[in-house]
Amino acid sequence: MNLTEALAQLYRHEYVTKLPAAVLAELRQLGYVVEQRAHLGYRLVESPDRLIADDLRARLKTQMIGKEILVFEETASTNDVVARLADGHRGEGLVVFAESQTKGRGRHGRVWSSPRGKGLWFSVLLRPRFPLTRLTVAASVAVARVAGKEARIKWPNDVTLHGRKLAGILTEARDGVAILGIGVNVNCQAKDLPAELHATSLVTEDRPGLAAELLQELDELYRQADEDFARISTEWARLCTTVGKQIAIRMGDRRIEGHAQALDEDGALLIRRDSGKIERIVGADLTLERE
Ligand code: BTN
Repeated sequence: MNLTEALAQLYRHEYVTKLPAAVLAELRQLGYVVEQRAHLGYRLVESPDRLIADDLRARLKTQMIGKEILVFEETASTNDVVARLADGHRGEGLVVFAESQTKGRGRHGRVWSSPRGKGLWFSVLLRPRFPLTRLTVAASVAVARVAGKEARIKWPNDVTLHGRKLAGILTEARDGVAILGIGVNVNCQAKDLPAELHATSLVTEDRPGLAAELLQELDELYRQADEDFARISTEWARLCTTVGKQIAIRMGDRRIEGHAQALDEDGALLIRRDSGKIERIVGADLTLERE
């Protein structure tokens, strides 16, 4: 029995009758509190607040996302790590987490603050058969689902809680692969959050559990983005604070004003101008100036 198998059993059952001494020692060394009761066996009492690849794998029942998981204590940007690994032909579904990033990136080349252990900073290697905009939409729905029923989506890809930014998504296409980068603030104090972003954070006692839940949702929604995107679109529209509003968008030196209608089948936003003309807005290089 290896670490992943032992953890999978400990998560699934209240008591596990057999646990090899070496595995038990390894678990305790990693910070797990495992209680031993006569006649009953071993029980997991506490897990460490650390992302551990074996632990995440033990919690997952995904078909594709998380087939391989790597966790770094620190890296520049997980998107770049995945890009490098994709060059080495790593498989679709590879997930790279970092407990902290020194060069975390947001959209428009902004800095994404990624303090140690105060969030989920990760990237997924994908080879979608559908447009990247659909992938970003699916990912924002996945994040909103795990963030709870108060979470909303601000087009194009911010997930918010009570009007403050909770998470961001940076989808990049490089050499035929898609890199889905997600940053979710978790258990942050005010000093951990960048003031200019008007940000907030999720509170949980189980950050690794939240990570596993998010990967599970992503796995389901990634499949659905291919097979039944209309369903995701409907859920997205229900969660989105932008749809149904008069908005202004800046794309380079172009400014578009209009009424945000809905997503089309590629995940592009349809806007009705005052003239009645429908504009299809797609791309990452835009800013929502007014909502
Ligand atoms: C945004 O809202 O501007 C997108 C933020 C995306 C941040 C994540 S954190 C993990 C991954 N690595 C990065 O450098 N960026 C993304």
